[in-house]
Order: sequence, then C-alpha cells, then structure tokens
Amino acid sequence: HIDENFMSDEKNYPVTGEEDGLKVRAGGMQRMDDNGKPYPTKLGIHGTTVAVDWDGCIADGSCMDVCPVDLFEWKLNPGNSGTGNDKKVEKGTPEWEKYRTDKSNPVRESECIFCMACVTACPWSVIKVNNE
Ligand code: SF4
Ligand code: F3S
Repeated sequence: HIDENFMSDEKNYPVTGEEDGLKVRAGGMQRMDDNGKPYPTKLGIHGTTVAVDWDGCIADGSCMDVCPVDLFEWKLNPGNSGTGNDKKVEKGTPEWEKYRTDKSNPVRESECIFCMACVTACPWSVIKVNNE
C-alpha cells in the first residue's frame, strides 16, 4: 500500500531525485512493508499528481487498462544495475510472479482528469492521486 500521507511526511519521504520528468521520493531509502519487513527494493514513489509506490507495484497493469487518458508507461525492471538489492528475475518464473520487476510510470501525470479509476483498480493500492 502507498502511504496516503507521503506528501506531508518530508522526513520519511523527502524528494530524492527526478526521473523521466517526475519527482522521486524516498528513492534509495530502506522502508518497511505492512508486516514490518523491509521492502526488497528501495525504488521510491514516482510522481506527484499521480504517484506510484514502485516498491509495492507488482506490474499488475490494471492502472494502464483503466486510465482514460493513457498516462502510464512501463518502466522495465528499473534499478537492476547489478549493484543494488535487485536481481534479474526471469519473466514467467514463480519468483517473478512473487516479485515482478516492471513498474508503472505515470509519465504524463499532468494529463490526469482525476477519475480515480487507477486508484480503485490497483490490486495492491500503490497509487495515490493528488487532486489539488
Ligand atoms: Fe488516469 Fe484517472 Fe488515474 Fe488520473 S485518476 S491517472 S486519469 S486513471
Ligand atoms: Fe502496478 Fe498497481 Fe499498476 S501493481 S502496474 S500500479 S495496477
């Protein structure tokens, strides 16, 4: 689940960089999942108007299916430089099913019409749309 309050939590979610024209928060920081276990990756939250928590995204793809303005694009296996915690996981294997490595990238977040379809559709609730 994405942390609903990430925008107002500068301590745990500072802006750590920019990628594909999107702000990245908490990139490279160790974080915990709902069970208090560290996430296997530290990829951060990508985007501001439409924000996707990449450490929770399992490449379900529903967000892309439902978005009426088609603003998401795949980022293929990010962070797999061979130097971090990530490792190459072959598609279709049980390991891939458990921990899919492609991520949804809200590259055209400025085109969002705030229908909230992606928020509802994501089975892991890793998308937050900030309508302000
Ligand atoms: Fe697309 Fe609607 Fe989600 Fe905005 S809220 S990213 S328009 S599905
Ligand atoms: Fe990822 Fe959820 Fe979309 S798991 S691909 S953000 S539907």
